[in-house]
Amino acid sequence: MDDSKLPDHVRANRSYWDRISDEWIAAGERAWRSDQPHWGCWQAPEERVGMLPGDMSGMRAIELGCGTGYVSAWMARRGASVVGIDNSERQLATARRLATEHGVELTLHHGNAEQVPYPDQHFDFAISEYGAAIWCDPGVWIPEAHRILKPGAELVFLGISPLASLCMPPNGASCDETLHRSYFDLYRLDWRDCEVDPGGVEFSLPISAWFRLFRETGFEVLDYLELQAAEQADRGDWFASAAWAHRWPAEHVWKLRRI
Ligand SMILES: C[S@@+](CC[C@H](N)C(=O)[O-])C[C@H]1O[C@@H](n2cnc3c(N)ncnc32)[C@H](O)[C@@H]1O
Repeated sequence: MDDSKLPDHVRANRSYWDRISDEWIAAGERAWRSDQPHWGCWQAPEERVGMLPGDMSGMRAIELGCGTGYVSAWMARRGASVVGIDNSERQLATARRLATEHGVELTLHHGNAEQVPYPDQHFDFAISEYGAAIWCDPGVWIPEAHRILKPGAELVFLGISPLASLCMPPNGASCDETLHRSYFDLYRLDWRDCEVDPGGVEFSLPISAWFRLFRETGFEVLDYLELQAAEQADRGDWFASAAWAHRWPAEHVWKLRRI
């Protein structure tokens, strides 16, 4: 799609991710080499988080905001036929190269996960780890995920918790112990003009608003996890330090079933 027709946040996030994609190559390569899925900034192991069905044979799966494609690779290795969609052509270039190097077959689309080029009820499983989960407008991507999933199929996603969104200072520094914005106003967070590490446009909702959105869209909630970083997490600082993420939930996981 012509960039000028994209919603403002999608256009902004496209140029942001195209600009920083090289910084994600090494982490993508490491994750592609691993057969043990691990999740989020502090690498929570799959045994603890349970994001993926053990056997995905015969399933059609989609990753919404696939980045360098390692989650897609983990699903393909479990037997799924996998589509990855991503807004950044440069992220997809890494995903394509790694898929070839590892001999994993993936269908990779350059596009906006708020508007997926597949028919209704096409997929058996959808997932996002820091893709659509934080970069897409929930009021748009959640109904779109519902549209492309079969009844009974699961949508699982991991992103930044509402508490962390509240505790991020407006200048873009990592989470501290102050509530910097109104909980009830959480929605669109624009980090383009902040002083520390300017970013893109992200989305976050109060927990009750997520519940309402799922109910009104036609998802039932199977589980909600608040992830705790290990005390000695060796992955350091992201939008929160490991010490912060050990004391408070920086990341959350929703597991939903399409009704
Ligand atoms: C942090 S990566 C997620 C991939 C991987 N799980 C990871 O954590 O590295 C975020 C990805 O979301 C993609 N993204 C942002 N907005 C998107 C949108 N509207 N549609 C599809 N992908 C999007 C970005 O291009 C980027 O590759």
